[in-house]
Amino acid sequence: MSKPMQIDGARLWQSLMELATIGATDKGGVCRLALTDFDRLARDRFRLWCEQAGCTITIDRMGNIFARRSGTNDALPPVITGSHIDTQPTGGKFDGNYGVMAGLEVIRTLNDAQYRTLRPIEVVVWTNEEGSRFAPAMIASGVFAGVFDLEYGLSRADAGGKTIGEELRRIGYAGDAVVGGRSVAAFFEAHIEQGPILEAEGKTIGVVEGVQGIRWYEVTVTGQEAHAGPTPMRRRRDALVGTARMVAAVNRAALDNPPYACGTVGMLSVSPNSRNVIPGKVRFTVDLRHPDETVLNRMGAELEVECARIAGEHGLELDFKEFWYSRPVKFDTECVAAVKNAAEQLGLASQSIISGAGHDAVYLSRVAPTAMIFVPCKDGISHNEIEDADPRDLAAGCAVLLSAIVERANAA
Ligand code: GLV
Ligand code: MN
Ligand code: MN
Repeated sequence: MSKPMQIDGARLWQSLMELATIGATDKGGVCRLALTDFDRLARDRFRLWCEQAGCTITIDRMGNIFARRSGTNDALPPVITGSHIDTQPTGGKFDGNYGVMAGLEVIRTLNDAQYRTLRPIEVVVWTNEEGSRFAPAMIASGVFAGVFDLEYGLSRADAGGKTIGEELRRIGYAGDAVVGGRSVAAFFEAHIEQGPILEAEGKTIGVVEGVQGIRWYEVTVTGQEAHAGPTPMRRRRDALVGTARMVAAVNRAALDNPPYACGTVGMLSVSPNSRNVIPGKVRFTVDLRHPDETVLNRMGAELEVECARIAGEHGLELDFKEFWYSRPVKFDTECVAAVKNAAEQLGLASQSIISGAGHDAVYLSRVAPTAMIFVPCKDGISHNEIEDADPRDLAAGCAVLLSAIVERANAA
């Protein structure tokens, strides 16, 4: 850069706060599930802001929105940045939204400086990153990267049976652009850390080296419904009692593989869910994570054996299905270096970090040189309405993003 450009931290904060009014919850968070009316309103707002910043909008068949700022040579592949604006049911203001608003702030800053990059720059909103309403997570960036085919992506259904394809049409975001299949010069995603490391270490910037692996399972435990009074304890095949031990086994699988392993049962449904009926069926989800593929595979295999053993002891049937695997990712050395150097040049304290959360950057890294920038979040809390971040850290992360993007967007 000839003369340093200055991110407008107050403008970035203002945009984040304004976006957070769409789907705002009483506790200060955001509930903006993918492809709901709130998602549509937030998408509309993003488009409006990008158009006001002179960008051209393209929407692809997965509903991914790309806002493009021309370069001096538009025939060259773009540098892309962005994240997601769907949230968890009790989500915060920053998860995903920060990466998108930071991308917009980069565009606004370049406009203010009348700075032209060689390559075009695009800010993207990826559809359904969270995987909360429609599983799996990161579905639309996955289709973009060719990990899932379009039909699979569009046919994912929510708990009520509504598909991504139907809901995209309903909210007016079923675009006609081909999903992916084009060259991307680099992809950068800024995000809050969603964990406690940067805050504890007193660092402003996390130079994200990679992302740990994730395995998602859907488990069904079947016993026998019976009356809660007359059925003697020893004759019961109580699906929930077996499940309780399996939930503890998920927790144990992670505790037995310190310090990185994680294991979570986040959804559980009991049938028929009546207080005086012994539960005949339980469905639950398992989320296992580890940065090392070998350890993650072993955790999954051992957990399945343990659940089968527990089912056997209680006379239960077990259906243990893995339905999503996101393998551990190592980001591009040069893009990671661009982030690290930018932090150094800006005089920001940084450290290398591995992401515990999944991100669209995971799939983008399969088709483009990719890296991520983390900033701290308060008490390391995310996927919670109280999620919070310091405006100065958000501005600092955005300045790093600007610098890394400009470097790559000017590379021949
Ligand atoms: C995405 O938010 C994840 O589950 O890591
Ligand atoms: Mn996110
Ligand atoms: Mn999230």
